[in-house]
Amino acid sequence: MKFNYLLFILLYILITSNTILSQKLLNGNIWHITDTHFDFSYQPGGDPDDMCRIYKSSHHKGEDHDKDTQSASPVGNYRCDTSYQLLISAFEEMAKIEPNPDFIIWTGDDVPHLDNSELNQSLIIQSIVNMTDLIQYYFPGVRVFPSIGNHDSYPQHQIAVGPNWLLNQVAEIWSPFLSNDSLETVKVGGYYSELFEPGLRIVSLNTVFYYTQNKQCTNQSDPAGQLAWLNETLSMARQNQEKVLVIAHVAPGYCVKYSVFNFHFQFNDIYLETFGNYSDIIIAHIYGHEHTDNYRLYYSQPSSVVIQPEWDEIDQFLAMTKQQMPSGVMFMSPSLTPYMDPYVPALPNNPSLRMFQYNTTSYQLLDYLQFWSNLTDNIMTNQINWMLEYKAKDFYHVEALDPISMYEAYLLIENTEEMLDIYHYYNSVSYPTKGCDEICRKIQLCSMRHPYSKGFEGCLVVL
Ligand SMILES: *[C@@H]1O[C@H](CO)[C@@H](O)[C@H](O)[C@H]1NC(C)=O
Ligand SMILES: *[C@@H]1O[C@H](CO)[C@@H](O)[C@H](O)[C@H]1NC(C)=O
Ligand SMILES: *[C@@H]1O[C@H](CO)[C@@H](O)[C@H](O)[C@H]1NC(C)=O
Ligand SMILES: *[C@@H]1O[C@H](CO)[C@@H](O)[C@H](O)[C@H]1NC(C)=O
Ligand SMILES: *[C@@H]1O[C@H](CO)[C@@H](O)[C@H](O)[C@H]1NC(C)=O
Ligand SMILES: *[C@@H]1O[C@H](CO)[C@@H](O)[C@H](O)[C@H]1NC(C)=O
Ligand SMILES: *[C@@H]1O[C@H](CO)[C@@H](O)[C@H](O)[C@H]1NC(C)=O
Ligand SMILES: *[C@@H]1O[C@H](CO)[C@@H](O)[C@H](O)[C@H]1NC(C)=O
Repeated sequence: MKFNYLLFILLYILITSNTILSQKLLNGNIWHITDTHFDFSYQPGGDPDDMCRIYKSSHHKGEDHDKDTQSASPVGNYRCDTSYQLLISAFEEMAKIEPNPDFIIWTGDDVPHLDNSELNQSLIIQSIVNMTDLIQYYFPGVRVFPSIGNHDSYPQHQIAVGPNWLLNQVAEIWSPFLSNDSLETVKVGGYYSELFEPGLRIVSLNTVFYYTQNKQCTNQSDPAGQLAWLNETLSMARQNQEKVLVIAHVAPGYCVKYSVFNFHFQFNDIYLETFGNYSDIIIAHIYGHEHTDNYRLYYSQPSSVVIQPEWDEIDQFLAMTKQQMPSGVMFMSPSLTPYMDPYVPALPNNPSLRMFQYNTTSYQLLDYLQFWSNLTDNIMTNQINWMLEYKAKDFYHVEALDPISMYEAYLLIENTEEMLDIYHYYNSVSYPTKGCDEICRKIQLCSMRHPYSKGFEGCLVVL
């Protein structure tokens, strides 16, 4: 009797520990670091009108009694880039929550938002070197997959086809993370692909070539042959039965925060169509750049889902055939920097950190944890607190982050006013919004459901 009881306990421990073990084995974690924009010249006490880089002059036109609260706090300021304290606090928090992620995705924009007159080549390189060192310091031995951002260049946003001073040095800086083959493609185009392990390939693209502010490649149809390479790489991955995670800085489609299509039109649809041909192997795309939390769907047969103005209601969208269903999903993570661009009418955002979770057997993306810090509160208390803002699975009511689930989440958002309000609020990482009116709602929904240049206008008319 006694013996049986002991055996029972032993068996119980064995089974439960096995379950914990297999859960651990089935769920992998990925940190996504993006848009850190650390400003090495941020001065606590500095003037937010000057990016917090210099102390307030006595001629400052602001009201006197506001002076102290308006000057830059060491923990950060909504009108400035990331302070040293904020940067270090972010890395310490990540290392506390998950010091051993399976790998790190780092989608660029390390350099502060400054005029070209205040920047130069060596500052750009120094920023990238510093961020590389920081990531390696906090996550020794963890694999890192970087992508280049539009601010990681000089002049800003300008990246030409390589080899050139920038891509050659970036290849050298990234060399601890990449194979020699990857370094060769980085020198030519800033892109590469790496096998994380047999079965999972990371494809990192340089989408700054397609970015509307980059004027270096506008007369080319395929800068650095990246799209042809992408097609070949995906074709090879399919042959090798690999799943592919796509990472890059700038996403295609319509950016709600800045009211623009991110890509030159000649690249936008062809880029998405290339992926549309390989939806069976692509897990998801992960981007940064927009400093706003959102996602977009795309299709394998986009021409069949060009949304026609004569479509009267959502029923047609609901009645889509399987071929017309979204076959891909792109996640745009918000930034660490809270910076509000004074030249565009957009809100700032609270500092963000994001951790994705995936199934280590199927490589399906299962969830993400969106962390945030309330900068308003941090400034009042003079300390930085990080919190969980939401879990994707809970907010979107999905079992996993695959395209069909995220399409169902889209329908939920479209049809539930409160869902769209919260989605809108999460855009700015819980920075208070003025609400989302009728036009705002249409733009939000069409940005999510229709990233193609052809048909976006039609979508706005229909909704
Ligand atoms: C780049 O800019 C920094 C900061 O303004 C300055 O200290 C440095 O001398 C400049 N370097 C070059 C090579 O111009
Ligand atoms: C890089 O790090 C060094 C040492 O911490 C610092 O002095 C310098 O300002 C940093 N430069 C940039 C561009 O972040
Ligand atoms: C990669 O290139 C470096 C420098 O050219 C060389 O020393 C190293 O052996 C190469 N590594 C492999 C795995 O080929
Ligand atoms: C694109 O423009 C650049 C610079 O103006 C020129 O050197 C290059 O030949 C052009 N390329 C094509 C494909 O027309
Ligand atoms: C993409 O790659 C496949 C396989 O190599 C090839 O058959 C196809 O023609 C390529 N498509 C384009 C648009 O280059
Ligand atoms: C996608 O596949 C179709 C059919 O094989 C092909 O005609 C088309 O060129 C491909 N598109 C791209 C952008 O690779
Ligand atoms: C992970 O994928 C495997 C293989 O498809 C499946 O058996 C398992 O149930 C999945 N686990 C989770 C947590 O989704
Ligand atoms: C952020 O902090 C401010 C100041 O403490 C507070 O008023 C606000 O409610 C907080 N926001 C959230 C979403 O908790």
